[in-house]
Amino acid sequence: MSISIRAIDLSCQFGQVHAVDRANFTVSVGDFVAVEGPSGSGKSTLLNLIGGLEPPTGGRVEVAGTELSTLDERERTTFRRRHIGMIFQLYDLLPTLNAWQNVAVPALLDGGKLKDLQASSTELLKRVGLQDRADHKPSELSGGEQQRVAIARALMNDPQLILADEPTGALDSVTGDDILGLLQSLCEDGRTVVMVTHAARAAAYATRSLRMLDGAVTEPAAV
Ligand SMILES: Nc1ncnc2c1ncn2[C@@H]1O[C@H](COP(=O)(O)OP(=O)(O)OP(=O)(O)O)[C@@H](O)[C@H]1O
Ligand SMILES: [Mg+2]
Repeated sequence: MSISIRAIDLSCQFGQVHAVDRANFTVSVGDFVAVEGPSGSGKSTLLNLIGGLEPPTGGRVEVAGTELSTLDERERTTFRRRHIGMIFQLYDLLPTLNAWQNVAVPALLDGGKLKDLQASSTELLKRVGLQDRADHKPSELSGGEQQRVAIARALMNDPQLILADEPTGALDSVTGDDILGLLQSLCEDGRTVVMVTHAARAAAYATRSLRMLDGAVTEPAAV
């Protein structure tokens, strides 16, 4: 099985805080990993390190064999846009664009034309159950609907790796199950998902879990 992520003594320190503390783990292509742990244990920082949004202060992490921290800013941004879909804890949609235009953003940044992207963006909104909100601006959407737009946007460039921070945090259980089923099907198709979650319900969809405590990462024995 090929390796999607390899972390070697991966560390990130903010002042005296060891947000991620010498983490060693590998994630294989097709894994659906749930990252669990208390608030402040380092989960979001770990995703930011994997996605190259935060440079490690020690050790290293490779995604598909590439160490993002060794790339220059431009190469890193391009790598991330083409290979990684990120779903953040805050959805950070662009307020002036409507739902389908927000979904199109990663492809726009890759040189696509807005008018050519309407069909594929709307199709992605359909996959998250939002086809009838395609023309709504973020301010005209509920929190859970904004979250689903952010999920559709993360899938726009068909990434091999999806990093999701509490992707179902704002969703009711039925909609959340739909999204988790969607992430599960992406893994079955050979993508990799790393998902931060507090919810046992969400973790049940994953094939593996990583636990974080005070920056340390451990993998509980499979049950
Ligand atoms: N930019 C930063 N500067 C200083 N400290 C930070 C920074 N980002 C995170 N931290 C600290 O690092 C630790 C880990 O934060 P992180 O956001 O990764 O936690 P988390 O597990 O995602 O928590 P939550 O479940 O509340 O989202 C926390 O103690 C936090 O205060
Ligand atoms: Mg967090």
